[in-house]
Amino acid sequence: MAEDLNIITGTKQIQYETLLPQIYALIEGETDVTANLANIAAALKEQFKWLWVGFYIVKNDELVLGPFQGPVACTRIKKGRGVCGTAWANAATLIVDDVEKFPGHIACSSLSKSEIVVPIIINNSVVAILDADSENLNNYDDTDREYLEKLLKEVSV
Ligand code: SME
Repeated sequence: MAEDLNIITGTKQIQYETLLPQIYALIEGETDVTANLANIAAALKEQFKWLWVGFYIVKNDELVLGPFQGPVACTRIKKGRGVCGTAWANAATLIVDDVEKFPGHIACSSLSKSEIVVPIIINNSVVAILDADSENLNNYDDTDREYLEKLLKEVSV
């Protein structure tokens, strides 16, 4: 089976509209969570060329690094710490336009300038988060929020 992604240019909306069905096709019928999260991170990285994109999984009341694409990253994050731990504590998507202005931001890479964190919620509790980091300021907006939330809802089914 060919697994090449169709990578396109255009508005962010067009990029998500083209990418999401391809991701659904990739993970359809596969029940292994690690395999699916790994392919989602790879697909997002390939399309958007973000600095870092990946998952942290809730384990024993900590976030533990999961499948990702990009530079090496911190392995464990406590609830309420950094952008990831805050999004987890609030069970809500968090967009940070300038990470240097976010109190307690955890700088895994000095190149990261802006960030979005989207929780994966199952039965009203956060089981994992998606984190994406950009080398550009103000990289993430409501379009990213809308499509990434949609993607993760689909994944959590
Ligand atoms: N910046 C994140 C930490 C994770 S890395 O960016 C991959 C934070 O503040 O939670």
